[in-house]
Amino acid sequence: MDRNKIEIDGVSSQLAGLGSKFPRSTRKTATRSGIIFPHSLLNIPMSYYQRHVFFCVNQREAGAVCCNNYGAQAMRDYAKERIKALRLDSKNKRVRINNAGCLDRCNEGPVIVVYPEDVWYTYVDQEDIDEIIEEHLKNGRVVERLKI
Ligand code: FES
Repeated sequence: MDRNKIEIDGVSSQLAGLGSKFPRSTRKTATRSGIIFPHSLLNIPMSYYQRHVFFCVNQREAGAVCCNNYGAQAMRDYAKERIKALRLDSKNKRVRINNAGCLDRCNEGPVIVVYPEDVWYTYVDQEDIDEIIEEHLKNGRVVERLKI
């Protein structure tokens, strides 16, 4: 197999030199049709984990807008359990779920961010978390409807 080629929908593309044609910010989220290109194919160093997810679980004083007003800690705990049950956890260096303090997008919350793609999501319930896990974390497809 040629490491410099990728096939999408039956179309083979040469990737050699592709990385230098995109601005740096684009290379971090290089997608076409929702498919995320592995950074290794774009000559970008791989991160330690395949995907690293930060849940803002910040709790402010009563009345102030914050992610934990929407159950962020419980959703983070749920995501961690699901990732482990699906055997996608960090023992296999695949998906790491971490708590985060305020990520400074409080009015769009609750928020999570997924690296290395630098994709930000909001969510309402466990169904949204399940969709992010299944689509993005497991299969590498960005969930456009939840992106912020
Ligand atoms: S409290 Fe979550 S982004 Fe600020």
